[in-house]
Amino acid sequence: MNDFQDIPGPASSDKLWGGRFSEATAASVEAFSASIHYDCRLYRHDIMGSKAHARMLAQQKLISPEEAAAIVQGLDNIQAEIEAGRFEFKPELEDIHMNIEKALTERIGEAGARLHTGRSRNDQINLDLRLYLRDECDRLDTLLAELQRVFAMLARRYLGAIMPGYTHLQRAQPVLLSHHLLAYVSMFGRDRERIGDCRKRINVLPLGAAALAGTSLPIDRNMVAEELGFAAISDNSMDTTADRDFVLETLFCLNLIQVHLSRLSEELVLWSSKEFEFIRIGDRYCTGSSLMPQKKNPDIPELVRGKSGRVTGALMALLMTVKGLPLTYNRDLQEDKEPLFDALDTVKACLAITAEMLSHTEFDTDRMRQATGGGFMTATDLADYLVCKNLPFRQAHGVAGQIVARCQELGCELDELPLDEMQHFSPLIQEDIYTKLSIEGSVNSRISAGGTAQSRVEQALASVEHQLGIYS
Ligand code: ARG
Repeated sequence: MNDFQDIPGPASSDKLWGGRFSEATAASVEAFSASIHYDCRLYRHDIMGSKAHARMLAQQKLISPEEAAAIVQGLDNIQAEIEAGRFEFKPELEDIHMNIEKALTERIGEAGARLHTGRSRNDQINLDLRLYLRDECDRLDTLLAELQRVFAMLARRYLGAIMPGYTHLQRAQPVLLSHHLLAYVSMFGRDRERIGDCRKRINVLPLGAAALAGTSLPIDRNMVAEELGFAAISDNSMDTTADRDFVLETLFCLNLIQVHLSRLSEELVLWSSKEFEFIRIGDRYCTGSSLMPQKKNPDIPELVRGKSGRVTGALMALLMTVKGLPLTYNRDLQEDKEPLFDALDTVKACLAITAEMLSHTEFDTDRMRQATGGGFMTATDLADYLVCKNLPFRQAHGVAGQIVARCQELGCELDELPLDEMQHFSPLIQEDIYTKLSIEGSVNSRISAGGTAQSRVEQALASVEHQLGIYS
């Protein structure tokens, strides 16, 4: 039954689009196609978009100012009902758009039936997603900044501590722990930039593309864009309704964040093992084994690492969905939401728990310092020393290699090899070599821009603290 006598329609379909239908939708189809159980999370943005649309319709005299006011008030009331948990979402009304529009029309009558003037759900869903994703980008930026702050805090706390830097997971050259920690600040800084860049392409108004071809009604898209804070309006109406690039791009950004979290998690798992013992994650962030009483497991980083799979899956799922679609809107596109929401929820949860856990993690700096011994980690410094004495680097590399082999034979460290033994491999080596071979000397000699010397790391840390608004 239609609610309004002036809108005739067959009794057999009570859908908002039911005019040309002579049969009610099969229950199985309603169940299969409904998206309200997940797109209900877009309610606030759907209402925000509809309010701006209604105001524009009034300005353009497509509806009266009284009707626009009734729509805005009605939508505000619906929002309050939803937020109070008093609103009943109905699967037979398919999606968030029709649930809200139908409820509005039930409450305010004919004015509600005028809201959909000059728009389609095809541009409406695109709008809702963009409004929603703008907020999500801002939330992600905040979470990433919080995580960066934890790293900066740790870098400040442990400034001066030395650890092995690795390549191939083999001890390579000594570095400052703070340098390692600040590497993650850079990494998550790029993620913030990427999200900010993605947000620019999200921040374009799609409304007004209507079903696919635009509308014959005299709408004012710029007014809606301004009211909703969009920087521009989309150009081609067909591209607009078909476009999910901004969702895919967000998913890619989420993927890279999750991959970064996963690399970090891998280090935390390794570092908390008996083999490394570089860190102690707070008991509150670990679990035990139900069988082995001695176990303390790093479940949080393991789960964060593990969740990378589903986040990658979300990106792949939508890429595949979009891949074969002709222009413009196809119902397939409804499949964008579940992967998107799941990836967003997952990444936000991982960012938050990682920051929390890291701020309850202690670093065993003695153990890290010990681990810099025994691996000839200053062999590069020996080669660089010879380069400064004008030996070509390739030859210097060879000499340093021979000296390493000799130390291995004798079972001593590089700086324990007597000078005459060293001079046997190269007469260029003098007494001053020993200051170069100490671990501290090695770290502090790496003064190239972006290097690990304490002076450089202090500069880098100060600049990071400044950017993050940390004042110590
Ligand atoms: N629920 C739909 C989606 O998520 C909204 C757009 C539906 N449009 C349509 N013509 N059926 O994509």
